[in-house]
Amino acid sequence: MPANIEVQAEPGALVHDVIERAGLSLVLPCGGQGRCGRCLVVVKEGRVRRRSVVRLTPQDIEQGYALACQTLLEGDATIYVPPQEMSLVRPESAASAGKVAPLAITCDHARAPWVEKYHLRIEPPSLADNTADWERLQREAARQYGLRGLTTTPAIMSKLASVLREANWDVTLVVERGTWIEPDAMPRLIDIRPGDTTAQTIGLAVDIGTTSNVVYMADLQQGTLIDHASAYNGQIVCGEDIISRIIYAKRPGGLEHLQKLVIDTINGLIDHMLDRQGLRAEDIYLVTVAGNTTMIHLFLGLDPQYIRLEPYIPTVNHPVPVRAGDLGLHVHPEATVDCLPGVGAYVGGDITAGVLRSEMSEQEAITLFIDVGTNGELVLGNSEWLISCACSAGPAFEGAGVTSGMRATQGAIEEVWINRETAEPTYRTIGNAPPQGICGSGMISLLGEMFITGVI
Ligand code: FES
Repeated sequence: MPANIEVQAEPGALVHDVIERAGLSLVLPCGGQGRCGRCLVVVKEGRVRRRSVVRLTPQDIEQGYALACQTLLEGDATIYVPPQEMSLVRPESAASAGKVAPLAITCDHARAPWVEKYHLRIEPPSLADNTADWERLQREAARQYGLRGLTTTPAIMSKLASVLREANWDVTLVVERGTWIEPDAMPRLIDIRPGDTTAQTIGLAVDIGTTSNVVYMADLQQGTLIDHASAYNGQIVCGEDIISRIIYAKRPGGLEHLQKLVIDTINGLIDHMLDRQGLRAEDIYLVTVAGNTTMIHLFLGLDPQYIRLEPYIPTVNHPVPVRAGDLGLHVHPEATVDCLPGVGAYVGGDITAGVLRSEMSEQEAITLFIDVGTNGELVLGNSEWLISCACSAGPAFEGAGVTSGMRATQGAIEEVWINRETAEPTYRTIGNAPPQGICGSGMISLLGEMFITGVI
């Protein structure tokens, strides 16, 4: 290994697992199925058993190449792990908070908010009025705002006495109304803050793509976007497409690992924005999540296996809201996390969100909605009918299943020119770095040039 790491392993251990145990990361583009041939390592010395060599030539084997996902150790070995494609950190889409223009949000949060804040000044107790703190707060909330039947959590109850007194009985209540699953639920106090903090209520919108994750931070009070950040989905190391991830999830601990990777990615983005905005995780009270059906399953820790198998049935299309604390998100632990409803195994809540946002389902004219992501979806229709379908689109553009294919990162060939006379190709790589492979734009450019020059 480049870092000269030594690690203990038992005979029969999978080389990939041993590499991970050594604290190194090795990308498994096809989820470890032995299909893509891109998890290559070099066995410098020692005995190994290659379970599959379909992606290797006899020369490769002679030079010591082996697929980390298909090779078992049979004794002591020295293995070289080549540097991984530098693709796991995606540059920020927004350069800095100051440059993010506040955008109006055309949602109806202001009309039916799930989370509301109420500034409350409470008369302190006295010998003449010795009502307990909680009942006193309930009484004032009902009197000043008509909030009846207020409930709360044990965590709030345990800090109530001190917060009220430290704040001199001048507090802001953060109250959750019933969500879609329980619209008539009693109002629930999820936080209590000293002073008046009603000017801002922060919520997040999270888009979990198979390749990219984006988090938007919004002020639900003002209806404006405050910030956004994006990064590659950390699950990429376990497979580049949905099917590879589903297969990876079948390994022992695979589902938990995938869930942790996506939560870590989202938390990294949240932390970044909190830093930029000078906010705390506890300031975020609502999280809405969109993603394809498999991504939502992995985010919630649900087994996605049956999405892949005929007749392609997800565990759930519209998951019930969950508490952020149960998922380990870096927001207020009592914040509601709501995943938008999907339609089926391969048409998820991200498409529902797109259809709603485009308002195509309210128009008479027939509209075609196209989402070309790693999973590609089409929706056609109008206010009377909608029909949708999906296919695996991204891998064709991101290198999976393509010899020498790679994502559009440093060293990827992104443009090709072919000399008409000599058919000699020239190319440009991203970052003008030595060529590592070819990305989607490069392949389109190459095919175009080959067609124009008559090579094909
Ligand atoms: S062949 Fe090993 S990850 Fe694809």
